[in-house]
Amino acid sequence: MDGEGTAAALVPARPSLKKLREAATGCKACPLWETGTQTVFGEGGAKADVVFVGEQPGDREDIEGHPFVGPAGKLLDKALEEAQIDRSQVYVTNVVKHFKWKPQGKRRIHQKPNWREIAACRPWLDAEVAVLKPRVLVCLGATAAQALLGRDFRVSRQRGELVDSPLAPNAIATVHPSSILRAEDREAQFREFVRDLEKVAELIAAASNRSSSSV
Ligand code: URA
Repeated sequence: MDGEGTAAALVPARPSLKKLREAATGCKACPLWETGTQTVFGEGGAKADVVFVGEQPGDREDIEGHPFVGPAGKLLDKALEEAQIDRSQVYVTNVVKHFKWKPQGKRRIHQKPNWREIAACRPWLDAEVAVLKPRVLVCLGATAAQALLGRDFRVSRQRGELVDSPLAPNAIATVHPSSILRAEDREAQFREFVRDLEKVAELIAAASNRSSSSV
């Protein structure tokens, strides 16, 4: 893709996270800005070792303007704590930075973003990754995994496996925390999610051992 119809032209020449966040505020690269309350950009430490990528902000995130602050985010926080991944090592973001929804009575119901919307938003994610240079990239759920690791990626089969990716030395996918909230066997699904995050913790530790021994 040559960047036409995407956010590419809005990405600043020498980006920092702050400059990216400011530039993304006014993004109109796809029609979702018309119904979303605001752009919800990624957040976390500028020295984060690991980037978690979800699908798109949810209802709460859209209102508050921060990623993963709603029920799925709370579950992610709990799992990170159990896997002993320090929040300061983590940056969280989404493949699409506006909430896509349709009305149902008084409620706003989540709608899955399409490939055009994902492609339009992609320059923001690529720029976040280029600035952060994470040791580990974690895709949460099928939308992020298929957008970043390949359309044929199947989270049900390939979760927890290391995947080659130009985005980071270690890339891995697991389920989206909101799928755990919907599951009947929530507790078992949560334990499996924590097990995947424990693999992420090992990857972070292995990568930081390698870099400290090469200093
Ligand atoms: N779901 C996501 O994929 N991202 C968020 O920020 C919140 C819920």
